[in-house]
Amino acid sequence: MGRQKIAFIGGTGVYEQSRLDERRELTISTRYGPVFLQSGRYENREVYFLARHGDRHSVPPHLVNYRANITALKELGIEAVIATAAVGSLREGMAPGSRVVIDQFIDFTKGRPSTFYEGEEGEVVHTDFTQPYCPQLRAAILRAGRKLNQQVIDGGCYICTEGPRFETPAEIKMFALFGADLVGMTNVPEVTLAREAGLCYATIALVTNFAAGISTGKLSHEEVLEVMVDGKSELDLLLMSSLTEIPTVKTCECELGGRHWPTNSGTRGGVIK
Ligand code: HPA
Repeated sequence: MGRQKIAFIGGTGVYEQSRLDERRELTISTRYGPVFLQSGRYENREVYFLARHGDRHSVPPHLVNYRANITALKELGIEAVIATAAVGSLREGMAPGSRVVIDQFIDFTKGRPSTFYEGEEGEVVHTDFTQPYCPQLRAAILRAGRKLNQQVIDGGCYICTEGPRFETPAEIKMFALFGADLVGMTNVPEVTLAREAGLCYATIALVTNFAAGISTGKLSHEEVLEVMVDGKSELDLLLMSSLTEIPTVKTCECELGGRHWPTNSGTRGGVIK
């Protein structure tokens, strides 16, 4: 049976998962650096929690060690990852407070290490991204939302900026023309590395504000945090119920994305401490 080990990656405003039983902390050292996680159990599954920005939000989006994070999850034998992300909205129909299970992304990042495959050993890897997020995980989250009577929007295009600054109104206008619905600073390269490692990955985006120029006022991190605090308990409920909806039998093709991942984990691997 697959997907017995599952991880949450908590974004802005989500720094721990208190609903897990038998909680403990652990550090995985990877070739990209150390990764701190919590582990626990929930409904017969081993669950891991990783705070993307650190537990005190000390790591800015462009400096998150995405490769270390995904390597650690892979080394732990995790097969499915649900991430949360605070986002700005470009669409009236996705007002602050909305939860969106995104289904596409546009990459506007600039200077981040964004692949595991740097051409070592003469290996050139081009990974398919026709379906960027795991359809089974997305369906599990949407099912959980229906059971909880929470409104969860099915699909949205996330544009990832480099940050850490917010966007200009001119950029937001351009992004809207490109077809983006939501803007954030962290989903890329997390989603791409997860696929390169063959992990099933999905994101629940929580809208914290209308994007620059659509919002009537200035944007601030404090405003983003305030809305996250308001939405946190419902988001937690959605995460935990999604967990119980994840099928153990895989019908998706996410694993294929990881076919170049070395089976001898020494090459990219980590050590559990
Ligand atoms: N822009 C970029 N990232 C964000 C925003 C935004 O408006 N809101 C929350 N994260």
